[in-house]
Amino acid sequence: MGVLLLTVVLLCLSETLSQDAGEDDLNNIMVEIQPEQEQDIESEVALTQTQVPFVTESDTGCQADVCNLLKRLEAMETRLTSTENQVEELRDIQVTVALLQRMTQDQDAKIRSMETKLSTTQSLMEFMKTVNEAQERKLQLLSFRSNATEFRMNHQQYLMEKLRKVIEDAPKVAFSAALGGDGHIPSSERETNLAFSNVFTNVGNAYNPASGVFDAPVRGVYYFSFSSFAYSERSVCISLFKNNMRMLSACDHHSDSDNSDSSGNGGTLHLEEGDHVYMTLHAHSHIYADYHNRSTFRGFLLFTT
Ligand SMILES: *[C@@H]1O[C@H](CO)[C@@H](O)[C@H](O)[C@H]1NC(C)=O
Ligand SMILES: *[C@@H]1O[C@H](CO)[C@@H](O)[C@H](O)[C@H]1NC(C)=O
Repeated sequence: MGVLLLTVVLLCLSETLSQDAGEDDLNNIMVEIQPEQEQDIESEVALTQTQVPFVTESDTGCQADVCNLLKRLEAMETRLTSTENQVEELRDIQVTVALLQRMTQDQDAKIRSMETKLSTTQSLMEFMKTVNEAQERKLQLLSFRSNATEFRMNHQQYLMEKLRKVIEDAPKVAFSAALGGDGHIPSSERETNLAFSNVFTNVGNAYNPASGVFDAPVRGVYYFSFSSFAYSERSVCISLFKNNMRMLSACDHHSDSDNSDSSGNGGTLHLEEGDHVYMTLHAHSHIYADYHNRSTFRGFLLFTT
């Protein structure tokens, strides 16, 4: 009868535990624990039963049957208390497990969020790297262009300097003069040199106003021109000579239809350094030389060669 009571109590307990636990884990633990407990209790009861014959009225002061029953009840109470404690511990464990599960879930969520953040950061870093590389390439290109521009500018500056030096160092030669005198220069039996003595300009001093001879200071291309004036009763003919060679001439012959004769000519000459250029008045020809400056001679260097 004691075994039956204990079994009923245990069954009720286990049912309560199953309902309370609600979790498979706990049930599993209960399933493991229950058979052991039942076994323990059964063996305990069996032990108590075997001990019963040795209990007598004289030992305990109670009747043997009642004594045995009391002892068995006491043992059962002890076991029950122990079981209750175990159930309480199991409940604590269950709560702890649930807490740990929630904590684990929280940690999982946190880790997933951190993973997402990390992946976003990595993508951003990749993007920044690409942007950086592109900017670096652009910077290099700009630097290259800047270098090229600087080089070109330097070269142009060098050319300008060279040109400035060429211009500065180039010989400057230009003269212009008129026949000075008190008027009429009469004809003679032979061709004579003309000295245009009234000098307007004589840059470089290559023209000698006393002799009327231009002395080429450098090898180069020069331009010369002249003009003559005379009254018409006789012809006027003048020539430009390079060294001993007649190069250019201008003439106006006697006529009855006008009062004055004017003529002129000009040209470009390639001269060696030291070449002479001068004007002559032809034989039997006359020219006017006075303050009007109507008979003139001029020349200048175009460029050296
Ligand atoms: C530009 O010139 C500087 C100095 O002259 C040099 O250090 C640099 O490498 C050059 N850059 C390029 C793109 O050529
Ligand atoms: C002729 O040239 C001189 C300078 O040499 C000048 O003083 C004079 O006025 C000029 N005469 C004429 C008519 O232009």
